[in-house]
Amino acid sequence: MVKAVRKTLIPATLIPGDGIGPEIVKATVAVLNALEAPFAWDIQTAGMAAVSEHLDPLPEATLASIRRTGLALKGPLTTPVGGGFRSINVRLREEFKLFGNVRPGKTVIPGGRYEDIDVVLIRENLEGLYVGFDHYIPIDNDPHGAAISSGVNTRAGSRRIARFAFEYAVKNGRKKITIVHKANILKALTGIFLETALEMAKEYEGRVVVEERIVDACAMQLVLNPWQFDVLLTTNLFGDILSDEIAGLVGGLGMAPGANIGEHAAIFEAVHGSAPDIAGRGIANPIALLYAAAMMLDHVERQDLAGRLRDAIHHTVVEDKVRTGDLGGKATTAEITEAIIARIHSNASGKAAKPARNPAAKAAAPKTAPTRTATTKTAASKTAPSKAAAKPRGKKAG
Ligand code: NAI
Ligand code: MG
Repeated sequence: MVKAVRKTLIPATLIPGDGIGPEIVKATVAVLNALEAPFAWDIQTAGMAAVSEHLDPLPEATLASIRRTGLALKGPLTTPVGGGFRSINVRLREEFKLFGNVRPGKTVIPGGRYEDIDVVLIRENLEGLYVGFDHYIPIDNDPHGAAISSGVNTRAGSRRIARFAFEYAVKNGRKKITIVHKANILKALTGIFLETALEMAKEYEGRVVVEERIVDACAMQLVLNPWQFDVLLTTNLFGDILSDEIAGLVGGLGMAPGANIGEHAAIFEAVHGSAPDIAGRGIANPIALLYAAAMMLDHVERQDLAGRLRDAIHHTVVEDKVRTGDLGGKATTAEITEAIIARIHSNASGKAAKPARNPAAKAAAPKTAPTRTATTKTAASKTAPSKAAAKPRGKKAG
């Protein structure tokens, strides 16, 4: 059955995006080509790039393409701060009802501030404070005399994301879900989310352990003892913030991928933005988008290719030590891309010798780790959910 699938090309929309977007998308496509990934790309524009071409940050042609393919890989899109048009990312999520945002944070390079991080954040992607009920009220002569924002969380929306999170946990061998909220203050807005998720938890009793945390305490605990967490389930704004924090635990935004999942479409992207400060310099780290592409391969049931991609990245940054500036190295985007492609080819030729699946945890060598890490590792071994159990997400396609 799998063989038949392998011959068929899968139509997918490709959006290069803004800033470093075109650079990391080019790198990612080159790596996917080396893997012979089965995507038939339909290249479309969005963001500032589309404004200059079509006078529209989200052209109809782009929407029509995603409607047709139901699958997209997207570079980051610049959104003006304060005024200007509404976030295209938010509009895309709304248009395709991409209610589930999955953001895994996993240590790849040992010797950083933290070792062996393996946390998945699942964020409600359509509701909460991102619904855009956000406006100014003039007072006296000041047109911005006051600002008002309303959040909306629905029972149905909370149930949908909670179901998604519990199913994700079961399917991926995750043992615990921590529901993150602020129901002590935002009693209705985040109370409904907590209440609904706890209700859903009863259906998974005995399979998934459930606990809850207030968001500020969770943010602190992520710094003090991130190993206590397995899957975090939270609302839109909290998820946005905590996922950047988790990216910080695993070497920064250059390593953090994300998937936006709906019933009929899925869009894969890096957690980071368009990084205007380094755009056009050829030094952006393509790995976050490459990991997003790996999630996309998992999504289309090509876990075999996803596994090879993750292995090649791992070997490149850990063993070959080819790293971009954000990871403390000197490699350019082109150089790290070439190194990953070389690894794909050499791993394929010597394949039987090294089936390493997700070897980040094993490779956490003590030689470069500061003493601090040794202490935190003890905490890890006490409280971390079974790493072995977390691995099946990369298992071979069945
Ligand atoms: P950013 O994530 O673009 O950059 C933050 C910092 O991380 C910068 O110093 C940047 O150089 C660095 N960085 C990010 N990605 C990197 C990579 N791949 N390699 C090396 N360094 C990297 O966040 P910022 O500056 O707040 O936002 C810039 C623009 O991106 C804004 O217009 C924002 O709205 C947009 N944005 C878009 C997102 C998306 O399309 N999904 C997500 C987040 C922000
Ligand atoms: Mg964000």
